[in-house]
Amino acid sequence: MAVSQHAEPTTEPAADPAKGVALVTGASSGIGAAIARSLADQKRWTLLVAGRDPDRVAGIASETGGTPLLGDLAVPGGARRLVTRAVDEAQHIDLLVASAGVGWAGPFATMPTSAVDDVLTVDLVAVVQLVRMVLPHMLLRRRGHLVLIGSIAGSLGVEGEAVYSAAKAGLGAFADALRYELRGTSVQVTHIVPGVVDTPFFARRGVPYNRRLPRPIPPERVARVALRAIDRGSREVFVPRWFRIPAGIRALLPGAYRQLAARLG
Ligand SMILES: NC(=O)c1ccc[n+]([C@@H]2O[C@H](COP(=O)([O-])OP(=O)(O)OC[C@H]3O[C@@H](n4cnc5c(N)ncnc54)[C@H](OP(=O)(O)O)[C@@H]3O)[C@@H](O)[C@H]2O)c1
Repeated sequence: MAVSQHAEPTTEPAADPAKGVALVTGASSGIGAAIARSLADQKRWTLLVAGRDPDRVAGIASETGGTPLLGDLAVPGGARRLVTRAVDEAQHIDLLVASAGVGWAGPFATMPTSAVDDVLTVDLVAVVQLVRMVLPHMLLRRRGHLVLIGSIAGSLGVEGEAVYSAAKAGLGAFADALRYELRGTSVQVTHIVPGVVDTPFFARRGVPYNRRLPRPIPPERVARVALRAIDRGSREVFVPRWFRIPAGIRALLPGAYRQLAARLG
């Protein structure tokens, strides 16, 4: 069912026309929650905060004044249902921040096939489907910003995170390709590429982050960078910024990069 079929006026009160409408997925934790709080601080967004856990979603909704939207993006049709409900609530979406994500770490040969499905679906397929659902509306309204939360794993390929790296690399390629397509329109695509961030992500995947370096950064720092990127219309932003260097070396000198990565781990 296309979103446009749900765009007629509903009995819900319309979003404040002076504000843009922002839908943040993964708003119940970590980076998504930090971005939702920062958007709320700007006081120029009608916020729709999405997640899976009812208590956490209710918590961030009351903290930010946003509308809670519950839904599982790992199940078929999850992305479509979420956008349908978001449009029912607010009539349109001006900003999509796709932050919901899951990890899995360990040797690929032992990865449960259900975990393969989860990582690929939540980290890549659902994001593509969300964008597919919101983009036609944004193009019609000549206004929109798509913010995709990727990962340095997608730029480098991290040992023990083969499927996660593949999903995030796919997201980066999707962002690049879509951006070309949207040239000349008023819809922008920003790919945020965080390094290691201090969130429940690692506890949830069941394997703690135990490298000495790089040190995890707070999610609020990613949120600050993301909001600046939205204001500036940046295409791709690494947080911290120096992560652009290994990504650039890998792109320019893949052989040298692989030797170095194998030595340093
Ligand atoms: N932490 C890092 O070091 C790091 C580094 C690079 C990139 N990233 C990326 O940043 C994004 C946010 O991660 P985070 O660090 O903030 O992790 P987090 O604290 O674990 O938050 C993950 C969020 O995704 C939501 N989510 C997970 N599975 C979902 C599903 N099936 N359906 C709907 N929502 C689901 C969770 O919702 P519930 O809480 O309601 O379950 C939660 O809000 C992810 O895309 C991740 O890949 C993280």
